Amino acid sequence: MDDLLKIIQERHSTRAPFDPQKQVPKSDVKTIIEAGRWAPTAHNMQNFEIIVIENKKILEQVGKIKTYPSPEFIRENYEQLSMTEEELLQKKVGILGMGFPPAWRDKAQLEMAMMDTTPGTLDETIKGSPTILVVVYDTRKRAPASEGDVLGTLSLGCLMENMWLMAQKLGIGFQIMSVFSGPEQKDIKKMLKIPEYMAVSFAIRLGYPTVKSRYLRVRRDSESFTYGNEYGKRW
Ligand SMILES: Cc1cc2nc3c(=O)[nH]c(=O)nc-3n(C[C@H](O)[C@H](O)[C@H](O)COP(=O)(O)O)c2cc1C
Repeated sequence: MDDLLKIIQERHSTRAPFDPQKQVPKSDVKTIIEAGRWAPTAHNMQNFEIIVIENKKILEQVGKIKTYPSPEFIRENYEQLSMTEEELLQKKVGILGMGFPPAWRDKAQLEMAMMDTTPGTLDETIKGSPTILVVVYDTRKRAPASEGDVLGTLSLGCLMENMWLMAQKLGIGFQIMSVFSGPEQKDIKKMLKIPEYMAVSFAIRLGYPTVKSRYLRVRRDSESFTYGNEYGKRW
């Protein structure tokens, strides 16, 4: 029990570059997928398929796909940033601004940054990963009577967490790349021959960091979000 809690607490986002020469063993990728296979899903619909990309040429091609950060993302991202560790420790939610371009974390430059249409590339996110998992789902289906397939989306989150915990246990760096589900997915789908009716939910980069990537991780105290018998009442 203590071991499980330790893995849960130590699971983290590895945003550091990965060593492109250090391959993630196939047996470990299989174990991560096995953990995902047993994820709970609404109505046990198992509403996911996973494309494992290990081929260097394909990784290179995917890395060349252009990305266009949306003004909406830049604005709403700013709202979640803390500019110092002290600020984050106090807020207990959100993330540190350090990893983002300077203009994205400066209120005075934010409007300009939102108008900047210079594209980036997926390479900047992939950062040398030897293995990428692209998780897709069938847009023609939904969990029974689930408006907007909210239950299906929750299920994909369960898949994500199961795989993330297993990667943590195996000592493999893991980062979610939401950018794969944005407008960029049009190019990604074409490149990976993903059928039109399938959509990308998220992608994962797996690998071994080239630098130590410890950073401040915070959470709210459980007393601040747990109530007893009635909303707002102390438990
Ligand atoms: C649905 C979802 C999407 C996420 N998208 C990204 C992403 O695109 N890039 C990223 O670096 N982290 C992403 N994350 C990771 C969160 O930012 C991270 O879990 C959170 O800041 C807590 O940090 P920790 O994972 O180190 O505990 C995502 C997490 C979830 C659950």
